[in-house]
Amino acid sequence: MLIHHELPTDGAVIRVLVDRDAGQGSTVWPSIGEYPVYDEVLYDALSSDALRNERFRAALRALAPGRLVLDIGTGQHLNWARESIRCGARHAVAMEVMDETFRAAEQNLQAWGLDEAITLLHGYSGDLAVQPRADLCVAEIIGSIAGAEGAGAIFTDARRRLMTDEGVVIPDRCTTRAAGACLRQVLDRHEIAFSPSAVPHLTKIFAWNQGPFDVRLRIKDPDRRGVVTTSAMVEELPFNGDLRTEQEQRVELEVHRTGYVDGVLLWLQLFHLPSRPPLDTLTEPTSWASVYVPLFPSEIPVERGDRLALTVVIRTSDDGIHPDYHVMGTLSTANGRHTGEHLSAHHGRIFRSHPVYCALFP
Ligand SMILES: C[S@@+](CC[C@H](N)C(=O)[O-])C[C@H]1O[C@@H](n2cnc3c(N)ncnc32)[C@H](O)[C@@H]1O
Repeated sequence: MLIHHELPTDGAVIRVLVDRDAGQGSTVWPSIGEYPVYDEVLYDALSSDALRNERFRAALRALAPGRLVLDIGTGQHLNWARESIRCGARHAVAMEVMDETFRAAEQNLQAWGLDEAITLLHGYSGDLAVQPRADLCVAEIIGSIAGAEGAGAIFTDARRRLMTDEGVVIPDRCTTRAAGACLRQVLDRHEIAFSPSAVPHLTKIFAWNQGPFDVRLRIKDPDRRGVVTTSAMVEELPFNGDLRTEQEQRVELEVHRTGYVDGVLLWLQLFHLPSRPPLDTLTEPTSWASVYVPLFPSEIPVERGDRLALTVVIRTSDDGIHPDYHVMGTLSTANGRHTGEHLSAHHGRIFRSHPVYCALFP
């Protein structure tokens, strides 16, 4: 059943599919990782994400022994600082910006008797210093759109001020991939509505933003029959290479299945170590999801061989950390050319900018 639910923030109204069992099938949620709204449930989900944790552990086993490790955004369980010590690191410095999370981490550190091995610092990494500098930096500040949580700016600053010149970063590299899709088709109940479990997160994000805006749409377990084109990389973050906080990518995608296109799905590929296969978050079950970005005002029928040209422009937002993503597309079909675009801003006042958002925020 679909209902309209009023949020406390500015009386924003959202459309919710109430009989949707929160954990089942593909659902619409706001993308949350790029906002300071983490709670115990989210940290538990991260700490029990087997595929994600396996990759970070493998990288730490290979790189932590004997090193001074910096864990940026340690969370309440200090996962990577603890794992570094377990793997033989000399010492670990852990940083956490969120007040409540820091307090929980502090209590855990004492309860686990690790306060000698790990130094816990409270604050945003850009405002903190470490002495001596770290020779390994590990941080899971990676979004479902790889750079959305500010990894480009945060690692650039860490390399410049907090790490030695030879220092190494985990993960080695992250990319965002894009493919043409139809929102209704990737949702298994074909209803464009938020999951009921999204309500508390939307409320917190809108309160933080001091008003509603077109949040990024996180799609958990999308039905891949709704993804009808080939995919290509639209964002690249080589943390041990030529890392750029701003970039622009142009790609050509080809329709490989008859269906509909009204936007694109974006998802993360995480390369924990060089020359190891990536974790692909579209095809493997992790706590990351994909993000749907609307492009065209309605669903456009497509046939095999049709083409979608995409340009993705990534610019740092006015907070100096989190990027905005401007996605532009031209779809060429037998019936003509269709152009569309969407500015997916990290925060701000853009609200109900597209029919999909008008449906979600009636
Ligand atoms: C996705 S969680 C990861 C938690 C934990 N490291 C893990 O992987 O299980 C990201 C955490 O990083 C924190 N954070 C993000 N950017 C930060 C920064 N630049 N400095 C300090 N903390 C940061 C957030 O508050 C959040 O607790």
